[in-house]
Amino acid sequence: MKIKFIETTEDNSKIEGALAVFANSEDKSYVLSPATEKLDKQASGAITRAANSSNFKGKFGEMVEILAPSGIKASRILLVGLGDQEKFDEQQAEKIGGKIIVKLMYSGEKTLTVLAKTNAASGAFGAILRAYKFDKYYTTEKNIKKPSLEQVTLVTDGAANAKKEFKTLEKIADGVIFARNLVTEPGNVIYPESYAEQIKDLTKLGVDVKVLDEKAMDALGMEALLGVGQGSASQSLMVIMKWNGSKNKKEKPVALIGKGVTFDTGGISLKPGPGMEDMKFDMGGSAAVVGAMKALAGRKAKANVIGVVGLVENMPSSTAQRPGDVVSSMSGQTIEVINTDAEGRLVLADCLWYTQEKFKPKFMIDLATLTGAMMVALGQDYAGIFSNNDELCEQLTAAGKAVDEPVWRMPIGDSYDALINSDIADMKNVGGKYAGSITAAQFLQRFVNNTPWVHIDIAGTAWRQKPSDIAEKGATGYGVRLLDRLIRDYYED
Ligand code: BES
Ligand code: ZN
Ligand code: ZN
Repeated sequence: MKIKFIETTEDNSKIEGALAVFANSEDKSYVLSPATEKLDKQASGAITRAANSSNFKGKFGEMVEILAPSGIKASRILLVGLGDQEKFDEQQAEKIGGKIIVKLMYSGEKTLTVLAKTNAASGAFGAILRAYKFDKYYTTEKNIKKPSLEQVTLVTDGAANAKKEFKTLEKIADGVIFARNLVTEPGNVIYPESYAEQIKDLTKLGVDVKVLDEKAMDALGMEALLGVGQGSASQSLMVIMKWNGSKNKKEKPVALIGKGVTFDTGGISLKPGPGMEDMKFDMGGSAAVVGAMKALAGRKAKANVIGVVGLVENMPSSTAQRPGDVVSSMSGQTIEVINTDAEGRLVLADCLWYTQEKFKPKFMIDLATLTGAMMVALGQDYAGIFSNNDELCEQLTAAGKAVDEPVWRMPIGDSYDALINSDIADMKNVGGKYAGSITAAQFLQRFVNNTPWVHIDIAGTAWRQKPSDIAEKGATGYGVRLLDRLIRDYYED
């Protein structure tokens, strides 16, 4: 789908193809935008008639479609309500962009022109995020339904600015879509080695990519991570990405860390069969990190950023680790593995320690589809955050609000920490029946010293069962926009 921006034109009656026009709501009724009003006159009042006869009120997202209106060239007009003009912002523009695209993508129309006075770039951004569909494995006629829409032209005030703004947003969308693709790919396609290959693609954007193999990790004492992958035929890997965009190349980096369990069977503590296929998404935290690195490098962010992902497959086999095994870790602390299905924290433990030791970052943020309990607590709208630093939490909360990837802070503390003490080792990898997301966070915190740190549990937000305004059902790419925004608003030169 090609996106174009052109300056507001006086006469829109000669535009062919589909035409999207807008109205606001005011005093329980609708008010057509000036451009819409003009078009309405040229179409002999077809828009007002259609609006009135369908009880259109101009509410946010409300739509009326008028086919083959006379007096103008367009094959159809889509009248779209934007709601209260005062409340209309970038986020709403994204949603409207998404709503228009789903409505027209398969309509048979090849071109769409949008008479968008303001927020055109955000509208286009929402449209490309919503238009994304993972269809590479469809081979039969029945399944291959190609979208008809080839070109979207946004007619707007300040087209040159909108175009510039969109250039950045497009890079962020590339990151989101990369993350969605990685999460959607099945476990037989994305396993540690193939995943690392995909990450190496980021070198084209100027990202430095380094891979630690099992031998290198073994030499560093990463028994916690290696134990998780030891039952798999795939070799475990750690991938380190570096983007040095700051003017001061010596400036301390910020660090993003992701759980990359390419498939989580639970290991010997095997998960139940029904729904296990969903566990291909257990690398969603790492995908958010990789996607964010892609977005940051793509838009040439002026910040030094490190991305570290632990890639492992959690399988049951004769070489798999057993419940009750005691493993060490790069930090030297020992862990009793009570449940092999609580594997994400074992992977992250070594990733966090390594990052902290090696890069001395300004802060560390880890993302992980870590606990089912997170979904019990917060459902699928908010991700839970756990942290040792108030300021970072406030920044992340603001960034989440700004991009509609919201986070909610959860408590941590000594009494929760005590729940993971072990009789035989320094700690155990599960805490018991209650507060499962918190005890998982407490476990991670034992691998963080005084570095400001936030853990984001994205178990509920990485995948959607239903489409949203800006995403097809399935992988959301949650986290990419959040991290990008945090860095954009607080950590760039
Ligand atoms: N990857 C899962 C977490 C998960 C489960 C995310 C369901 C989304 C949906 C994680 O590795 C896991 O299995 N966690 C266990 C921990 C338990 C054994 C303490 C869980 O949440 O059940
Ligand atoms: Zn698990
Ligand atoms: Zn897992």
